[in-house]
Amino acid sequence: MDIDVSKYFKPNLSKARRRSKSEVQHDNFEINEIHKNLGHGKKYWIQTYGCQANEADGETMAGILKMMSFSPAANENEASIIIINTCAIRENAENRVWGVIGRLKKLKIDNPDLLICLSGCMAQEENVVNKILKTYHQVDIVFGTHNIHKLPDYIQTAMFSKERVIEVYSEEGNVVENLPKFRNHKKKAWVNIMFGCDEFCTYCIVPYTRGRERSRLKEEVIKEVKELNNNGYVEVTLLGQNVNAYGKDFKNLDYTFGDLLRDLDKTGIKRIRFTTSHPHDLDLKTMEAIRDCHSVMPFFHLPVQSGSNSILKRMNRHYTKETYLEKLKQLREIVPGISVTTDIIVGFPGETDEDFMETLDLVRKANFEGAFTFIFSPREGTPAAKFKDDIELEVKKARLYKLNQVINDGYLQGNKRFLGKTIDVLVEGISKNNNNTLAGYTPHQKLVNFRGDKEKIGSIVPVKIIEAKTWFLMGEMI
Ligand code: SAH
Ligand code: SF4
Ligand code: F3S
Repeated sequence: MDIDVSKYFKPNLSKARRRSKSEVQHDNFEINEIHKNLGHGKKYWIQTYGCQANEADGETMAGILKMMSFSPAANENEASIIIINTCAIRENAENRVWGVIGRLKKLKIDNPDLLICLSGCMAQEENVVNKILKTYHQVDIVFGTHNIHKLPDYIQTAMFSKERVIEVYSEEGNVVENLPKFRNHKKKAWVNIMFGCDEFCTYCIVPYTRGRERSRLKEEVIKEVKELNNNGYVEVTLLGQNVNAYGKDFKNLDYTFGDLLRDLDKTGIKRIRFTTSHPHDLDLKTMEAIRDCHSVMPFFHLPVQSGSNSILKRMNRHYTKETYLEKLKQLREIVPGISVTTDIIVGFPGETDEDFMETLDLVRKANFEGAFTFIFSPREGTPAAKFKDDIELEVKKARLYKLNQVINDGYLQGNKRFLGKTIDVLVEGISKNNNNTLAGYTPHQKLVNFRGDKEKIGSIVPVKIIEAKTWFLMGEMI
């Protein structure tokens, strides 16, 4: 039997590719009276995958559900509503989610009133929504990254009309302010400064799933950071797919990322971090702001993706190995001692042994202190998915292995430079491996384990570094 899909609002990747030229508008979220008690006596469970943008979205969903009187569940079994907040960046991220949805079928059979929702970047993909419609009938609600603010309406419809709700917008619409947040952490917070991405790296699905670049107004960002500071937060991480493009969409205002860092430094928040940056948008103003602002941490994640100029060109990255290294040199001159990490893809279609050697050479020259490394994963709808991919999987795996060896040495060297020094550590909790040990992060984003009192959790304490391992430092409180 054919399903009548005309009533659904499905995503469309070619529509998502188009960028509107109109000025970005800003709306305000308000909860409707009729939604305020819908969750009374009911619990929610949100499972988030993917990047910090998705983590932040998960916190917004939790905030909205709380406003609707839902309370958090301890596990998925006691939940009345489950949201799977998904990531589409690589095939294995998606496979994991299909496994979870399959497993939830049993819960739905046991409890037909359970609402199962799919959100996040996978929801923005046509093939995913088609598969849900056809095969995964246990999913009640599908909504995308652009309409989280409409969650109360969707829940109401699914609860009372017992209809499946499929509503995904391919175009982004306005920036919505005043969204509630129920944050997972009491001392560290994510703060969105912009949404979307206009870079269109040829391998990447994000410009399709997150829409065009839109910056939040500086007043809103500053207000949020001030509030966090007043509420006892110590660290904020500013989020955007390319924070270095912040403000470039403001029509009548010359205000970019470096300006924002300077203004946020004045809010009194102790630590400011940000992620992620695109090398070609990284400017002098930003580097100088990092140097001048005490609260901006000396850590920079600057994805390079490859060291081969021909691969970089086919990735549409707008820089070369040489200009990347030049920018890094400039950054290190302006902010001495800054710790730099990166992202690298191996096995991009057509990558030769020589191309890969260029990547290894760049990694050695760049002195990265860490990296996320990936094997290329073709994403339907992106240009690179159509490039001829003739590299054997075994070759890709061997390259990843070799690359990781060099990267791991970078982690160790990066840690070793702190031996014997006394550093401020923001204590985050108890070490995963040892109950008597506290764990926290230094300004350079190095993980430190040390013996100490649990009462220190949430504060910044001086720690002397006595041992450097590849993945962490050992220290003692002084
Ligand atoms: N906007 C950020 C984050 C993008 S996703 C940035 O540009 O850095 C994080 C990383 O995933 C990317 O930097 C890239 O290294 C990797 N990635 C993205 N698409 C991929 C794909 N199709 N296959 C493998 N890795 C991918
Ligand atoms: Fe993807 Fe490139 Fe945008 Fe990063 S900058 S999100 S890798 S398109
Ligand atoms: Fe994944 Fe979407 Fe983030 S694809 S990496 S959750 S922007």
